[in-house]
Amino acid sequence: MYFTWKKLYETGLEEIDNQHKKFLTIINDLHKELTENKDFKTVEAIINELKSYAEYHFKTEEKLFEQYNYKGEELSEHLKKHKDFENFIEKAISNISSSKSIITTKLADYARKWLIEHICGTDVKFVKFINQNN
Ligand SMILES: [Fe+2]
Repeated sequence: MYFTWKKLYETGLEEIDNQHKKFLTIINDLHKELTENKDFKTVEAIINELKSYAEYHFKTEEKLFEQYNYKGEELSEHLKKHKDFENFIEKAISNISSSKSIITTKLADYARKWLIEHICGTDVKFVKFINQNN
């Protein structure tokens, strides 16, 4: 399934929203490759791009956590979600390099669901925190 941006995904932090849009674009590219061209090398390249972009995005958010002195259980939960995604990507990369065969669209589906949950669940809590404390 392709992932369409909706207004409800906007957190109000422009930098974060732009990064989420880019994140979404990479996931859609992955879905497209997995359903249309199915080129192994391209899939591999997109997954690597997704990995670096996720790392970049998480770093941006983690800098904001520090800047706004975000802490406690919400912070640990949020960091755990980032770690979950990193582990998922690591696993996908090692599966690809060991099997050398095309993987299913489940990969893009998981990434899409994860990102929606990340934006609407986890990030929304952080933005609420910023608004209440600043
Ligand atoms: Fe985010």
